[in-house]
Amino acid sequence: MAETEEAKKRDFKDGCLVRELADGAMAVGQADGEDVVLVRRGDEFFAVGANCTHYHAMLSQGLAVGDTLRCPLHHACFSLRTGEALRAPALDPIPRWRAERIGDKVFVREKLADLDRKHLRGSAAAKSLPASVVIIGGGAAGLGAADMLRREGYDGPLTMISADDWPPYDRPNLSKDFLAGNAPDEWMRLRLPDFYREQNIDLVLNARVSALDIPRKRVQLENGQTYGFEALLIATGAEPVRLKIEGATDSQIHYLRTFADARAIVSKAKSAKRVAVVGASFIGLEVAASLRTLGIAVDVIAPEKQPLERVMGPEVGLMIRGLHETHGVVFHLGETVRKIEGDTVGLTGGAALEADFVVLGVGVRPSLTLAEQAGLVIDRGIVVNEYLETSAPGVFAAGDVARWPDPHSGEKIRVEHWVVAERQGQVAAKNILGYRQRFDAVPFFWSQHYDVAINYVGHAERWDSVEIDGDLNARDCAVSYKRGGRTLAVATISRDRQSLRTEAAMEANTRV
Ligand SMILES: Cc1cc2nc3c(=O)[nH]c(=O)nc-3n(C[C@H](O)[C@H](O)[C@H](O)COP(=O)(O)OP(=O)(O)OC[C@H]3O[C@@H](n4cnc5c(N)ncnc54)[C@H](O)[C@@H]3O)c2cc1C
Ligand code: FES
Repeated sequence: MAETEEAKKRDFKDGCLVRELADGAMAVGQADGEDVVLVRRGDEFFAVGANCTHYHAMLSQGLAVGDTLRCPLHHACFSLRTGEALRAPALDPIPRWRAERIGDKVFVREKLADLDRKHLRGSAAAKSLPASVVIIGGGAAGLGAADMLRREGYDGPLTMISADDWPPYDRPNLSKDFLAGNAPDEWMRLRLPDFYREQNIDLVLNARVSALDIPRKRVQLENGQTYGFEALLIATGAEPVRLKIEGATDSQIHYLRTFADARAIVSKAKSAKRVAVVGASFIGLEVAASLRTLGIAVDVIAPEKQPLERVMGPEVGLMIRGLHETHGVVFHLGETVRKIEGDTVGLTGGAALEADFVVLGVGVRPSLTLAEQAGLVIDRGIVVNEYLETSAPGVFAAGDVARWPDPHSGEKIRVEHWVVAERQGQVAAKNILGYRQRFDAVPFFWSQHYDVAINYVGHAERWDSVEIDGDLNARDCAVSYKRGGRTLAVATISRDRQSLRTEAAMEANTRV
């Protein structure tokens, strides 16, 4: 996504009038042939690259908060001073230029050198450097941690062990563009293969850790190989809940968690005419949307009254249902699958549906076996403190497996959000290096259905009132989930800046 043609014509080397830029406002233009966004914060001006390094969204449509710039799509956070991607999902910095005010104009001057990302060298902040670090898991949290350890300048042995057959990839995209055929394999990598070599990260794929010996500081793989560690991050994520369905054979049933799962569905979808999706939560509905894009007839079967009801309430659920119905999805709500016979799916209400295959999206459970066996404290997730450290010193946990004290809700929560997992990996990495940084990011997730994106900030497991600002059916609204008059979470559609403002306000409240 590039900036508009009109903006591109404007050369910031010729200057921009100061009065055009109110505090916090942004202007888009060019410098050195590149798209630039000029941001004013008080009396300071910053000139940085105009596009996010995650999915290239226009940062001028985001929000300046303090000396950071937030991306409108998935809330990446960049430093205006250094360009660094302070918070995932963006991992790479944005370029920056020197901005100089002369009289009533601001001029964008020369491009500044890339940020020296090795904070740690010579820094007093990192108090302890472990002799070696092992990360179990090559997903969002695992990669976030490995990337941050090297970014901070940790140059000791770093091993990332993953049961996956692919290097860390864009898991959220599996149910979206990848399934809809709009994203080739190469787009799915979070980092190119060279990255692991250049950063000296020992990425061990197709390798499942089967035992964790914390007193001896050792992990063992299924093939018997062992790795010693001084610091450990457990980032084993979650696995799909598997249903036993009478008559179902393995070849008829698909789950969607890994790249291999997605490739299997894509391959079957090539010749499929009808698919049954069991489960009307995010993954099931995203799968339904992608299959509809491919022209496949889709039936969605779920026990709820409305899709997404448990997480987003009946109002949003009804709207999402209407959206999918407009695209031809047929819902069978208040029902489950009774049995499967050949290509016939029998429902509890008596109906029989034809389906070439069935996708089950009925939730996930955190992968806790290793942590349980190792004796870590567990409470529907691995219990961690505000520094993401488990009950064993030097052993951290991040991502879908971790239950942490969330300062915004005041509760100990565990979520299944991509951005949270990556950010927890990043913070755990800093704490492995001794920074003692609290994990206090406001939970955020997004979900995409056709051309409708839902952004959700905060965390509301229970609420006593829902307030809708705007028009749900026009798909232009902010839905607030409140308890005792306090806003716990806000879901927005087509209101990206409002979502960023809500996130910033929640951050500020907790800081106070
Ligand atoms: C299809 C799909 C779409 C999604 N879409 C969105 C979305 O739009 N927005 C959003 O916010 N979230 C989304 N999510 C959720 C998001 O992907 C997860 O919250 C996130 O991946 C969690 O990151 P993680 O690092 O904790 O776990 P994962 O990314 O699952 O990584 C876990 C890693 O641990 C490895 N592992 C597990 N056990 C072992 C072991 N014993 N030994 C070695 N390795 C092991 C696995 O192989 C894997 O590499 C989606 C999830 C799926 C499946
Ligand atoms: S495009 Fe910027 S965070 Fe995703």
